[in-house]
Amino acid sequence: MCRGFDFAGIRAYYVALPHSRKSMARRIKLGFNVDHVATVRQARRIDQPDPVAAALLAELAGADGITVHLREDRRHIQDRDVRVLKQVVKTRLNLEMGLADEIQKIALDVVPYGVTLVPEKRQEITTEGGLDAIAESSRIAPFTKQCRDKGIDVSLFIDPEALQVRKAKELGATAVEMHTGTYCEYHRDPARRAKELTRLKVCVELAKELGLEPRVGHGLDYVNVEDLVRNVSGIAEANIGHSIVARAVFVGIEQAIREMRELLVYG
Ligand code: PXP
Repeated sequence: MCRGFDFAGIRAYYVALPHSRKSMARRIKLGFNVDHVATVRQARRIDQPDPVAAALLAELAGADGITVHLREDRRHIQDRDVRVLKQVVKTRLNLEMGLADEIQKIALDVVPYGVTLVPEKRQEITTEGGLDAIAESSRIAPFTKQCRDKGIDVSLFIDPEALQVRKAKELGATAVEMHTGTYCEYHRDPARRAKELTRLKVCVELAKELGLEPRVGHGLDYVNVEDLVRNVSGIAEANIGHSIVARAVFVGIEQAIREMRELLVYG
């Protein structure tokens, strides 16, 4: 009888090696955004480096999920990447997306583990600011329902504001990802940093109270993530891309993932 490839067993062994002492501690899940690998590939419009290969290596090193943003302009992630990742990702595939009809259709066809709804502007270098769940509610609600009917988790990428968290709950989301861009931008300014940490703390607490999975993401790196972990308890997942890919250029994806994973441990 063919028992197939024991990915879970191999991963568990591989991941446990450098983490045995901390493995019992509470840990924030690491969602690795591989868009930045695709950006390098698209600079030449050839087939490497492949974000799919990056995703597989990251999973083996302990990433808890893989995130890709299929943008309308296809500047980095391509349709093929999403479909192949759906086949090979063994953890959780999180499809980040704007609300364009075409992308909604792809999401409902591929059925990733989850989607994260983000605002998307053509001219932006990366996602700027969170989704306005209040202003966009008439577009978010029907799509969220269609996703939930197919068993797809729905996360809204929002600024850390209580009104937005409450609206996400009302619209049927299962998670909220709090935008950490402002926190990261002002990380070196103690007063602003403290203010942003408080906003994040309040919203993580509120999300938990409402039964939403509290996530964070955007701009997090190996330096600024430590204050966040130390000061904001209860974060379920951090979605990180650029800093891990930047580190991976020098030390490889597996080590870059392991190092970030070590920083996501509470206590
Ligand atoms: N979360 C969301 C919703 C994002 O749009 C991005 C950027 O693609 C990230 C997380 C990751 O941000 P960064 O690449 O700065 O780590």
